[in-house]
Amino acid sequence: MSPDDTRVIQDLGGRLLTAFYVSLRSLKLYPVVQQVLDDLHSQMTEFFKHEGGFELQLVGDFFFINETRLRLDLSNFSTFGSFSTALSGHGVGELAIDAKVKRSEWAPFISVLLRDPNEADPFQGLIERLSKTPVEHVEVRPEAQAQEPELIERDAMAAAKGTYAQSVKVAKDVLTDMRLGKAVNVRKVKRAVQGIVDQVLDNESSMVTMTTLRGFDEYTFTHSVNVCIFSVVIGQRLALTKMQLYELGLGALFHDIGKMNVDAEIINKPGGLTDEEWDALKQHPTEGLILLFDMHGFADVPYRQMLMAYEHHMKIDLSGYPENTRDRKPGLFSRIVAVADGFDAGTSVRSYQYEPWPPDEVLKEMRDNPRRGFDQLIVKTFINATGVYPVGTLVILDTLERAVVSKTNPDVAHLHQPMVKIISDEMGIPLTEPLQVDLALNGRVIIKTTNEALAS
Ligand SMILES: [Fe+2]
Ligand SMILES: [Fe+2]
Repeated sequence: MSPDDTRVIQDLGGRLLTAFYVSLRSLKLYPVVQQVLDDLHSQMTEFFKHEGGFELQLVGDFFFINETRLRLDLSNFSTFGSFSTALSGHGVGELAIDAKVKRSEWAPFISVLLRDPNEADPFQGLIERLSKTPVEHVEVRPEAQAQEPELIERDAMAAAKGTYAQSVKVAKDVLTDMRLGKAVNVRKVKRAVQGIVDQVLDNESSMVTMTTLRGFDEYTFTHSVNVCIFSVVIGQRLALTKMQLYELGLGALFHDIGKMNVDAEIINKPGGLTDEEWDALKQHPTEGLILLFDMHGFADVPYRQMLMAYEHHMKIDLSGYPENTRDRKPGLFSRIVAVADGFDAGTSVRSYQYEPWPPDEVLKEMRDNPRRGFDQLIVKTFINATGVYPVGTLVILDTLERAVVSKTNPDVAHLHQPMVKIISDEMGIPLTEPLQVDLALNGRVIIKTTNEALAS
């Protein structure tokens, strides 16, 4: 599948899911909203101009349409989330729609989805209800049986989503206020950081999973929050106290605040920078130091956070920036933020011109290339926390099956053997039921990571 095809499916597929979601909501509120269903149908028709069929697969929190994973980002994750809840409530794991589908099938289909699931057997109940309607070109297939532990995970995931969305909103408000020269509500930021710390202490993996919701448009804000989450994860592993984690998280959230004083065009420029632009960008650590010093609302001058903003690009051999005239060692908090920052920046889509690296390669580069200037102990601590293959990484197994990493192996000796969900067989054909496999017990081996397109 070419990158163009992937993009088309992601674009059209994303719009389609939104149309489904809007239909679900509208039908719930007003029984007859023809316009919405017209729209859903025309999106579907548009999709069939490009693809012969439509197959939607739900794997954990991820959607695949015709084997292409849809990008989850902040603008769509609650929409997609509600749609997936509607499907999984009825035990549906897959949806196959035939190109012959008629406009008149949507209203009955959506209404059946909206009804409360049959308690005894949700999936069977749905099938029976559908059989009494004129729906004939939409086929539903059951999801893999959910086990009890997954239900607990689901609650943690919902809490993590809430904390994450709220924190990104706070980061956005604060950084925007800063840029407009308005006073920053430090209390609000502190509360957001506390939320992140509490959530990480409560269920670390759920919060780490949130960092895969990287949106291009929201990059600056999600980046700040992601760096905060990763820093707290590392700090917790280094046995910092809760108070120290708050301090660390706060500095991490503010680490790039100096960028608010750098020309936005330079920050968002897609290609390479000229020497002058690069010099301007390199001012952001110093600008951050000054901005934090001037910021009101802290009980004390936030020295620790100022230092973190100032030192996060310094590198441990001081070959980074700002330059130093005398010998020094960047502080522990700064070295932690540098690692969190390096990982998030390396794996994020910052512009359409820039291809992110697979997470395992970013980690490897950070660990093995001394010129990157990261603290090795901290990189190793981070790898122990996120796994060599962080949650959400798509991998190819030695059996040539494709799988999504669903859980990091808690045993440090087996980091390269996470829990995965196998989603397609050796021929690239999607499994009707994704197969949950613990690679530490199973014998299959990850041979490499892959990008979003599943079929080659
Ligand atoms: Fe920075
Ligand atoms: Fe950064």
